[in-house]
Amino acid sequence: MARIDLQDLGHRYPGGGDSWALRPMTMTWNDGGAYALLGPSGCGKTTLLNIISGLIAPTRGKVSFDGRDVTALPPEARNIAQVFQFPVVYDTMTVFDNLAFPLRNRGWDQARLRQRVEEVAEILELQADLGRRARSLSADQKQKISLGRGLVRPDVAAVLFDEPLTVIDPHLKWLLRRKLKQIHQQLKLSLLYVTHDQTEALTFADHVVVMSQGEIVQIGTPEQLFETPAHRFVGHFIGSPGMNFLACEWSAGAATIAGVRVETSSSQSPPAGAALSIGVRPEYLELASTAGPNTIPARIAAVRDQGIQKMVQLEVGSTLAWAKLRNATAALPSDTTFARLPPARCALYADERRVP
Ligand SMILES: Nc1ncnc2c1ncn2[C@@H]1O[C@H](COP(=O)(O)OP(=O)(O)O)[C@@H](O)[C@H]1O
Ligand SMILES: [Mg+2]
Repeated sequence: MARIDLQDLGHRYPGGGDSWALRPMTMTWNDGGAYALLGPSGCGKTTLLNIISGLIAPTRGKVSFDGRDVTALPPEARNIAQVFQFPVVYDTMTVFDNLAFPLRNRGWDQARLRQRVEEVAEILELQADLGRRARSLSADQKQKISLGRGLVRPDVAAVLFDEPLTVIDPHLKWLLRRKLKQIHQQLKLSLLYVTHDQTEALTFADHVVVMSQGEIVQIGTPEQLFETPAHRFVGHFIGSPGMNFLACEWSAGAATIAGVRVETSSSQSPPAGAALSIGVRPEYLELASTAGPNTIPARIAAVRDQGIQKMVQLEVGSTLAWAKLRNATAALPSDTTFARLPPARCALYADERRVP
């Protein structure tokens, strides 16, 4: 296993004009980590993964494994396992032989090989199928074999997954997500897992790398992405619904909305000329019946009763915002009310970035 360093790494596709599929970036993936690379379709996830595995040569910059420059090495010389969106299996071979293939290639003796194949088959619940030909299995089962082949070598620098659960049915998907977490703990492999699905990323990874339009906008634990989004994109993308951003002004050293001074967790002043907003999660936005500190006049625009919670849509100043109210058994106030922003739970954003 290895530490992977990306140094000033960027990529443009031929014919893509001067737009970067991957904007130049520098970052480190630590040895033994479980990382998810999360972002919407087209943001550059596969491009980044394929540069790490060597399937794509980057337009600029350097990839190193444990300090060794591998940028010019082909995939087979990089000691990486990669699992793709669709199964890649040898149909005429048995499940056992499919799983054993990467180990036979490296000259493992039979006893050790059998032990390892059985270990991986057990985790993926493929033991009963080891003697069957891959051809006779469902798409789900075949993709489990692909996952197994990716995981079977204990000596790889990292295992890269590119949306591997796309073809898997929802229930099995849920199980496999948890399995991957267990596999990471048990087999101690460095995993880099690409997905556009926040639930998948947040259940699986210790560290989530969020990408938007060819750029890494934040690297953090699931908790950090939820509590302190560094970029408005992360606020929107994580959470359901995403973070509210309320337009605000800056006057006399403080943020104000509709003339009301709003304290936030940001301690610095925003750069002059930036478009300002205050970010607050629906989970933390409160309803109040009277004016007070950090409390802004609001109007209830819509209410969705979801049983255990109420989703209340508010017009706050010029913005629509959601409040998620738990245990809201009491009747809501009529139209006119107040929205309270708990200072520790909101932050100032200048253009797209969180003000520290
Ligand atoms: N072979 C290619 N040639 C030209 N453009 C490409 C190629 N592959 C991907 N792109 C473009 O690069 C950007 C990033 O794509 P990709 O890395 O596949 O994103 P993701 O995996 O996040 O969906 C997209 O705008 C996509 O259209
Ligand atoms: Mg992709």
